[in-house]
Amino acid sequence: HPTYSLVVVSNRLPVEIEVADDGTESWRTSPGGLVTALEPMMRSSDGAWVGWPGIADRTFEPFENDGISIVPVRLGASELEEYYEGFSNDTIWPLYHDVIAPPRFHREWWEAYVRVNRRFADAAASAAAPGATVWVHDYQLQLVPRMLRDARPDLVIGFFNHIPFPPYGIYAQLPWRKQILDGLLGADLIGFQRLADAGNFSRAVRRLYGYPTRGVAIDVPAPEGTHRRVIAKHFPISIDAAAYEELARRPEIQERARQIREDLGNPKTIMLGVDRLDYTKGIAHRIKAFGELLADGSLSVEDVTLVQVASPSRERVGPYIALRDEIELAVGRLNGDFSTISHTAISYHHHGYPREEMVALYLAADVMLVTALRDGMNLVAKEYVAVRFDRDGVLVLSEFAGAADELKQAVLINPHDIDGVKAAILRAVAMPRQERLRRMRALRRKVFDNDVAAWSSSFLRTLTEGAAVRPGIP
Ligand code: G6P
Repeated sequence: HPTYSLVVVSNRLPVEIEVADDGTESWRTSPGGLVTALEPMMRSSDGAWVGWPGIADRTFEPFENDGISIVPVRLGASELEEYYEGFSNDTIWPLYHDVIAPPRFHREWWEAYVRVNRRFADAAASAAAPGATVWVHDYQLQLVPRMLRDARPDLVIGFFNHIPFPPYGIYAQLPWRKQILDGLLGADLIGFQRLADAGNFSRAVRRLYGYPTRGVAIDVPAPEGTHRRVIAKHFPISIDAAAYEELARRPEIQERARQIREDLGNPKTIMLGVDRLDYTKGIAHRIKAFGELLADGSLSVEDVTLVQVASPSRERVGPYIALRDEIELAVGRLNGDFSTISHTAISYHHHGYPREEMVALYLAADVMLVTALRDGMNLVAKEYVAVRFDRDGVLVLSEFAGAADELKQAVLINPHDIDGVKAAILRAVAMPRQERLRRMRALRRKVFDNDVAAWSSSFLRTLTEGAAVRPGIP
């Protein structure tokens, strides 16, 4: 079989299989920020992508898709339950997002996580050429770096954590806290979204292993009294900003944006929320704030409509099932109380949309609401900014999203402070054009300067340069 000098490993492949009602199968783009971020880099390099094709109990041979070599990893139905829905999304996800939902600790889930991580590591090892670079992604695969290093000491191994890394007081709850750290420390470079995440990780390593750390360097004991230097550093992820702007400039997409405004009854202000339906996104907080503004008469449905896209996500995991009921109850109540025959308060959509439609929505939206309670980065905030080539539009952004570290000219909010969110919405709705343009210009500079190409090349440069030297603290 062929081997590659760059191998990306992530739980999800960039494509997933879609089975139509008549049984015909086709490949379509997978959901989520990770795929959005990595696809452009992979298309421009000769590499392979190892991951799960989005369906249980099916074996696929490696194939080529859109210029990317795809190496599918098989997951059984019970592995999907225990490794993906269980340990990844009902243990690690809530734990790493500040325990917004209570993490559930089950030993069988952990065992499945170890088994499945081993399978990904094996697949990566057999796809990697001698001395290759392997870049492992995200919380589903935290044990893969160590497994790979043990099997293939010749490899250069990077890991990027797309979600937050929690403070020690929270991380310490994890029964397998030492094993996970050890898994990650198999990498040469461990990337995080925010400076604070990298700091939390280094602190956990010091507390649980006592390894010496200095700045971004961690010295991990290696055989015969030597040390292997691991770097833990932040690399804020981004998007292909130029590609978003290019779409936004297309006449048919601008026409679609006008159509959307008209179909919504030409409100003065369109507010937009775009999220996977996830309890980390603060969707209920934003609905509550909007509802209170309608109730106290500060806003009216003739003036302001909220379009909320909530794309289906992890629909078999308990807290997600409960969240859908909670959000749809809140949307229904609010619309029942405030919508008129001609104006809907919240236009709610439980769908994913093609990128073209998303860009049209961003263009139509005067105010973008990102109210995450905790979020690794939040690429939606960056997509909105990239699309606004007219330099207009207001971004309301939670300080608990990684994007807030860079996008300081947004209207920053604490989503738990409902009065603060209400004030930010009113401010955004009434913001003078001059101020909107000034802020958006600054935001666009940030997003275009650190686009996804800059992100991946800076990660890979740090990885390969560091691995070439591999110094240790004497
Ligand atoms: C986030 C995670 C990704 C994940 C995506 C979609 O962006 O960081 O690793 O792929 O959500 O979630 P899903 O569970 O559908 O893969």
